[in-house]
Amino acid sequence: MAKPLPSGRSWSLVAASAGLGGRWPRPLCPGPAGRGAASSRGAEQRLKGAEELPGPGALHSLYWLVLRGYLLHTHRLQVISKRNYGPMWKSTFGSYKNVNIGSPEVLAQLLRQEGKYPIRSDMAVWKEHRDKRHLPYGPFTEDGERWHRLRQVLNQRMLKPSEAVLYAGAINEVVSDLMVRLQDERAGSPSGVLVRDVANVLYRFALEGISYILFETRIGCLQLQIPAKTQHFIDSIGLMLKNSLFVSFLPQWTRAWLPFWDRYLQGWDTIFAFGKTLIDRRMEELEGQLERGEEVSGYLTYLLASGRLSREEVYGSIAELLLAGVDTTSNTLSWALYHLAQEAEIQEAVHQEVTSAVPRGHIPDAADLTKMPLLRAVIKETLRLYPVVPTNARIIAEKDVVVGGYLFPKDTLFVLAHYALSHDETSFPDPERFLPRRWLREHSPSHHPFSSIPFGYGVRACVGRRIAELEMHLALARLIQTFTVRPDPQGAEVKPLARIVLVPDKPIDVELIDRRAGP
Ligand code: HEM
Repeated sequence: MAKPLPSGRSWSLVAASAGLGGRWPRPLCPGPAGRGAASSRGAEQRLKGAEELPGPGALHSLYWLVLRGYLLHTHRLQVISKRNYGPMWKSTFGSYKNVNIGSPEVLAQLLRQEGKYPIRSDMAVWKEHRDKRHLPYGPFTEDGERWHRLRQVLNQRMLKPSEAVLYAGAINEVVSDLMVRLQDERAGSPSGVLVRDVANVLYRFALEGISYILFETRIGCLQLQIPAKTQHFIDSIGLMLKNSLFVSFLPQWTRAWLPFWDRYLQGWDTIFAFGKTLIDRRMEELEGQLERGEEVSGYLTYLLASGRLSREEVYGSIAELLLAGVDTTSNTLSWALYHLAQEAEIQEAVHQEVTSAVPRGHIPDAADLTKMPLLRAVIKETLRLYPVVPTNARIIAEKDVVVGGYLFPKDTLFVLAHYALSHDETSFPDPERFLPRRWLREHSPSHHPFSSIPFGYGVRACVGRRIAELEMHLALARLIQTFTVRPDPQGAEVKPLARIVLVPDKPIDVELIDRRAGP
């Protein structure tokens, strides 16, 4: 029988942080949390310490992650570790000491104790770039009161459903270009219907969509010939992300000798320069519009005109919003198409739903989406099977906390094993199957509310959730309205890899059959 496996640290939101080195943390004495919890259960119930948690040692972890090749499969390790160690386990990776949370009850208990200013992880290498270039932090990198102030401004025009629907027109404009791009891609294939690497096309769609919302400018990602500056910007995102993997794990002294650090900084510099040019241009236009007494609107306009953020703060926030808004939606849509292509019956039911909600020849809009519960369930199920952020984190810095009968000192790093949680058969019977109907009301879902929380939790949850959902729903509705999606007959099974987000391990190729033309 295989030995129990460690749960490593996924290269994810957690990994851009520096470690909390040293030994397993011990509370000096049970703080108020500890005393309260102990007394409520009776004095004889002793609270256990982190060192008493089950879990693999440092060498054992290293063996599985490096030698057994699980570094890019940490999502699978979560599942195995949970099976071996139970709802909570400790793990070590380098100098990192993690307390992993793998049950919805324990997760709820932890997250309900997070304070006013939750901390995810310290995002050290992102902060280093900002510090080096004297740039302000954005929503990912900022913490404490400053983060709270930033989120109050950013949330306003993004998170309220009534505000988010105002972007539907802009998103639909980009969806129309996506359809043209897909028509071109399939027309150029030997069979006339195959689209190779659909995630790549959807990446361009997501980048165009979020840029249009944030900069109020089209940047041409869906054009046949992408403008050179936009292409340079796209390449820089890739450069930064790829190299941040290395700079997070390599010791600092290697930076003078290896190329990764310089490439990483260079990637960020181009991202900021591109954003700055578009923001400054918009600012000039805005000043002209205001002088002429014209009405102005849009997200960037709102940020610039609110007077609550300096221009530099806008640069910092827009760059981080942009980064968060691309791989997330594009990968989710790619996985959704991958499964719908294989599940003809579900796809037909979604098509039925779309055609009954949207009159013939009309483009689906935000109001139509309310009549498409199955389509929305497809996205929920996709995010359950492939949580974009398979591993998240929390550091409770304000106080010691009691979780699952253990007392943890403040600053303990909790790793939230979202992938294991949403693949647990107690919450989701037949967990590896794509069954969107499990989310429909008539199927009376019985899962715990914390078993699948793909957008996170609480005040620190995803700020782009409403926009992301709107974008994915509108794009999927139009795709299913226009095409029958089929798997590539030559295609192989595609599995997820835990990179920055959960990504396909090989290109997803699909056939798109025009519904009007027939097969
Ligand atoms: C499928 C789409 C998406 C998923 C599944 C997703 C998921 C997440 C998750 C899990 C978090 C961490 C939440 C927490 O720690 O509790 C997060 C944070 C964040 N997301 Fe998203 N996201 C998506 C799309 C977007 C989009 C489109 C944007 C930008 C418009 C965005 C912007 C952000 C930002 C700025 C944060 C950091 C918030 C903070 O720390 O205050 N996300 N997202």
